Amino acid sequence: MKGNPKIIDALNKVLELEIGAILQYLHHHWTGDGMESAAILPLFEKTSMDEMKHAERVAERINFLEGDPSLKPAPAKKGGDLRKMMLDDLEGEYGAIEYYKTVIKLADEAGDSTTRLMMEEIVAQEEEHADLWETILQKTGKKLP
Ligand SMILES: [Fe+2]
Ligand SMILES: [Fe+2]
Repeated sequence: MKGNPKIIDALNKVLELEIGAILQYLHHHWTGDGMESAAILPLFEKTSMDEMKHAERVAERINFLEGDPSLKPAPAKKGGDLRKMMLDDLEGEYGAIEYYKTVIKLADEAGDSTTRLMMEEIVAQEEEHADLWETILQKTGKKLP
């Protein structure tokens, strides 16, 4: 089924954000160290796998709409201590949530309820990711951005 080019472009931008998130979380998993790393490194790995499932769903949808799924990652941040990593991850989640909500609106306006529903489910999971980093960062007693 030939999809709306605006929806395909928007989904490719979502896919690039997901690929960037996979890489960022993986790199944090590989390189994070410090006192809390035993607790936090597995969370980076698990979240990276969640992002991979998102990438897969979005790529399959692009392919179904006869678009070409992108292989380009959005810019990823690396380095710093665990707190900096979690702040960078939180910022990434906030950016994704904001953009994905515009894609939900676009899909709604285009009458593409399947894309809208998929993006609503993905946003709900990004909100859980953001909540996870907010919760851990708040325990450090410092102010969030
Ligand atoms: Fe995601
Ligand atoms: Fe996420």
